[in-house]
Amino acid sequence: MSCNTNKEEQTSCSITDKGCRTTVDPNENLGEYWCGKYTDVDYKTLGWYEEISKPSLDLIKESNVSKNAVIFNSGAGATTLIDSLLQEGYTNLIANDIISCALNNIKNRIGKEQNKVQFIVDDLVNPTALKEMPKVDLWNDRAVLHFFIEEKDQEAYFKLLHQKVKKGGFVILSEFNLQGATMCSGLPVKRYDVKMLQEKLGRDYKLIKEFNYDYTMPSGEIRKYVYTLFRREQSY
Ligand SMILES: C[S@@+](CC[C@H](N)C(=O)[O-])C[C@H]1O[C@@H](n2cnc3c(N)ncnc32)[C@H](O)[C@@H]1O
Repeated sequence: MSCNTNKEEQTSCSITDKGCRTTVDPNENLGEYWCGKYTDVDYKTLGWYEEISKPSLDLIKESNVSKNAVIFNSGAGATTLIDSLLQEGYTNLIANDIISCALNNIKNRIGKEQNKVQFIVDDLVNPTALKEMPKVDLWNDRAVLHFFIEEKDQEAYFKLLHQKVKKGGFVILSEFNLQGATMCSGLPVKRYDVKMLQEKLGRDYKLIKEFNYDYTMPSGEIRKYVYTLFRREQSY
């Protein structure tokens, strides 16, 4: 079975699906390109896998959102953050990705807890289903925004974010920092510092916490990230 990125048939791709190939041109079919990343190898060997997504989890706790707050994870992939949030008692999670191949890993791990997670397969920069998503209390992004190197894609991403983050809500953006790698997963990335992320969000988002973080890949290599937590002002 091949990995089908057609939104009508998005559930046809399973984690055992070996039909997706990393040789797919990302400019032709970005979803299938990413699907190949998750199906060609064990996802635990991928260069962004975290056994525990501790820095993200710490920032979510720092925000002090309630356990039933709507927490949106953009480009969630196979992240174990969802498992950790469920273990911590959060009950209202949304996991998005451009392709179901990645999210199926989460579904398989969390089993019955799936009733606390809404899965939305959609493109963050060309959204359809995401437009129908309810407003969220917290938007979390780790290693997704930095793949949007074109201005128009960044604009589309932040347009959706502004539409969906509640006033008084939180935004966590964790991307490669200015000392970080220029490529990831075979794709070029745009690197950020706090000032650049603040400019992208605009002045109605106030910085609460930021830190640089050296992530150690399963291969032992280091990837340099900047982690940021912002709060959207109530008055905007
Ligand atoms: C480097 S991985 C990070 C995954 C996860 N956030 C984590 O920290 O483990 C990037 C993820 O973004 C997803 N992605 C890439 N472009 C996307 C888009 N336009 N819309 C939604 N997801 C996208 C990929 O499929 C992949 O799962």
